[in-house]
Amino acid sequence: MSLPPPTPRNRAVVTGASSGIGAALAGQLASRGYGLILVARRKERLNELAGSLSARHHVEAEVYPCDLGDRDARAGLAGELGTRDIAVLCNNAGFATYGALSTLDHDRERLQVELDVAAVHDLTLAALPGMLARKAGAILITGSTAGNQPGPHNTTYAASKAFANTFAESLHAELAGTGVGCMLLAPGPVRTEFTRIADVPAVDRLVPGPLWVSAESAAQRAVDGMAKGKRRVVPGPFAKVQTLSGLHGPRGISGRVLRAVYRRVA
Ligand SMILES: NC(=O)c1ccc[n+]([C@@H]2O[C@H](COP(=O)([O-])OP(=O)(O)OC[C@H]3O[C@@H](n4cnc5c(N)ncnc54)[C@H](OP(=O)(O)O)[C@@H]3O)[C@@H](O)[C@H]2O)c1
Repeated sequence: MSLPPPTPRNRAVVTGASSGIGAALAGQLASRGYGLILVARRKERLNELAGSLSARHHVEAEVYPCDLGDRDARAGLAGELGTRDIAVLCNNAGFATYGALSTLDHDRERLQVELDVAAVHDLTLAALPGMLARKAGAILITGSTAGNQPGPHNTTYAASKAFANTFAESLHAELAGTGVGCMLLAPGPVRTEFTRIADVPAVDRLVPGPLWVSAESAAQRAVDGMAKGKRRVVPGPFAKVQTLSGLHGPRGISGRVLRAVYRRVA
């Protein structure tokens, strides 16, 4: 798989494009000539990004404001994707919560599963048949190093990202030879609005500055990885160490270590 070339009709869809990694993915794809469909809830931010990317890169940038945690709203977008020539789908929108599971707002936990899991599944299923019929397409799923091992006090997020990681790598192997690819982007700490939305300022103090990756660098590696047909991109040395210990270390120990870390964070 590689990235299908941009055409005047085809589009790259980016969810979570109003901020962070999503906005940077949109910038990377626009710089390679892709027309865009930008998805998130904050319409003004999407309009601003669409305006600046289309002026800078001379591409069409459509804005699709949508609460992807809402099944009906999501079904509308899925229906739209099923009728369009989608060259690239970046399933990137997501958020996390921290704290003891039973004490957290149950509706927000459910919303996290809707956004981080069900929306990824729905949008992939919507875009995939057209990609397979055209024998061309690239799907990116933003998982996380958090999905590689147990994440006590970050339980719903860790489990959601375990789904994202496994779904992406399974689909990568399943699609071999079809002309369509699927790649996992599994970052560690990336400087975005993520920790502010999760209300965990302690993470900024716990993780030393040099261990953070910029959203632009993560997005550039991701789009380069898709172009090369990679299975997984893990941006930055710290995320690579996290991945090695998460996937190959004893889960009993990593669970206990992360329990202590996330309790401090929450
Ligand atoms: N930053 C990190 O350290 C890190 C590490 C590993 C993985 N990740 C993953 O990277 C992805 C992007 O996060 P980020 O770091 O760029 O965080 P961010 O700056 O907070 O961006 C999150 C994006 O998701 C969108 N979003 C949130 N809820 C939504 C909803 N209900 N419907 C539609 N869009 C929604 C937000 O847009 P609106 O608020 O406008 O809807 C925003 O565009 C997430 O999947 C996250 O889990 C991040």
